[in-house]
Amino acid sequence: MNAAVRVGVLASGRGSNFESLVAAARRGILGARIACLVTDNPNAGALAIAARSDVPAAVVDPGTRRARLAPEIEERILEVLRTHEVQLVCLAGFMRIVGPRLLSAFPGAILNIHPSLLPSFPGLDAARQALEAGVKVSGCTVHFVDAGVDSGPVILQASVPVHDDDTAATLADRILEREHRIFPEAVALWASGRLEVVGRRVRVRPATSRVE
Ligand code: GRF
Repeated sequence: MNAAVRVGVLASGRGSNFESLVAAARRGILGARIACLVTDNPNAGALAIAARSDVPAAVVDPGTRRARLAPEIEERILEVLRTHEVQLVCLAGFMRIVGPRLLSAFPGAILNIHPSLLPSFPGLDAARQALEAGVKVSGCTVHFVDAGVDSGPVILQASVPVHDDDTAATLADRILEREHRIFPEAVALWASGRLEVVGRRVRVRPATSRVE
């Protein structure tokens, strides 16, 4: 593993996934360090987590309320990521759709966590969508980001049962626990160079055992 891989996290809200990445880096199981946080929300809980974890943070004003980032806003985010020499970008509850500038600056190096078993229930309110569809199993997905919404190649997934008495909130909480495990795992796989994308499929190369 290469502990020098530098990760930039983009988050808009509470920041529990950001915190799980910071904790994994601290425990030495990420193979990477968290170089910076960028948020589009000055009230994001993630900012307080960054402050107490000594992670440099920047607020980039999104300017409009549109889901898709304007090119000049993407440029500002890119500036921050470049300043911190980021190699891998993690979207951890980032409520905007990244556009061509970020995608071309980080080819194969933007990951997103989504609270459903994609391709089911992309977009907002995934837990509510799962309940409305009546599925008995849901979960979460870490995937590479492409130009679509929650549509890139799947890296890792974890499933949870849907209980008869679940609300969107109780199901989302059960899923969130699994998110906090698979996002750091996916980052560790990326950082160790073990992910190979073949069409829509992401293969995980076996860990090389070194004989010296
Ligand atoms: C998570 O459920 C994540 O999957 C989704 O947004 C939520 C963010 O939660 N994309 P947090 O801010 O990481 O606590």
